[in-house]
Amino acid sequence: MFYKKADLVMEETKADAILVSDGANMRYLSGFRGATGYLYLTKTRRVLATDSRYTEMARAEAPDFEVIELAPAQTYGQLLNSLMEADGAENVGFEDQYLLYADYRKLQKECGGRLKTELGDRLDLLRCVKTEQEIAYLAQAEAIGDLAFTHMLDVLRPGMTELEAAAELEYFMKTHGAENLSFETIVASGVNSSMPHAMPSAKKIEPGDFVTMDFGCVYNGYCSDMTRTVVVGKASEKQKEIYEIVLKAQLAGLAAVRSGVRGCDVDKVSRDIIAKAGYGDCFGHGLGHSVGLYIHEEPRLSRLCETVLQPGVIQTVEPGIYLPGFGGVRIEDMVVVTEDGCRNLTSSDKNLIEL
Ligand code: GLY
Ligand code: MN
Repeated sequence: MFYKKADLVMEETKADAILVSDGANMRYLSGFRGATGYLYLTKTRRVLATDSRYTEMARAEAPDFEVIELAPAQTYGQLLNSLMEADGAENVGFEDQYLLYADYRKLQKECGGRLKTELGDRLDLLRCVKTEQEIAYLAQAEAIGDLAFTHMLDVLRPGMTELEAAAELEYFMKTHGAENLSFETIVASGVNSSMPHAMPSAKKIEPGDFVTMDFGCVYNGYCSDMTRTVVVGKASEKQKEIYEIVLKAQLAGLAAVRSGVRGCDVDKVSRDIIAKAGYGDCFGHGLGHSVGLYIHEEPRLSRLCETVLQPGVIQTVEPGIYLPGFGGVRIEDMVVVTEDGCRNLTSSDKNLIEL
């Protein structure tokens, strides 16, 4: 596991120790999947404090850590305070972006005010560049998504509700190697597809509907993410027009991804195409985001993100056009940044499919 990377954060912040509470960061640094408890790391000590529901799992999954079980009637603050006292750790870094305010106040009180350094997103940023092993897990998760999309082309039909279609996608992924879903599956049909994050409803899919499916699954902890929009029946001229603009923007965005460019520059490439076609106001969200142990990670392909892309960073490329009262289109692939471009982990067809 990647616990050695925590040393960089201690050096940078001058903290004597760091306390990790976020589930993904705990897993990344230790291997422990339980997401309950805390990691406490100094330059010389690595502790995973958790409760009796998780200790067996923790010992198996985090062999590089000393697993300490919370005693009956002991609080985490008491346990952690005893560690800090023993180590003489006076300046402890903590995840201010994740710790609940109430938990922070309680811990701070019980640990004698030692939580002095706000780590911000420093631990999350350790996860940006993926190893070959992590990329292999992400690729496998996306491959399960591709299979699920192919399956949906066989089963989507008028009369099926959005909820039934979402259930079909989810059942397929979980019976083909997925351990979980990356996020709540989106199936949006007809006018509902103008809502980028519509919730699947009891609405029946009707002939001529756009159906947007945005879904992903988890494989070995790593998330996938893809979106395809199809037409059930024959596409109208307007549907074809919108679809082709989004596809053009998506292909141009993919072509712009490479090591050395900023996230905002890639976003601009796709956004300009949509704006030039007259639909600039109908694409409100960012072009993409990174993916890993969480579905949304840094860096982003967005107007606000000036981070320079590096090889091994994952990005989604997902432009859309959304017309309230008519419907919408989004097309999303997940890619790995390389020196001179990107490797697409998504292989599903992107030409307009009429079912
Ligand atoms: N695919 C869901 C999202 O990116 O928000
Ligand atoms: Mn996405």
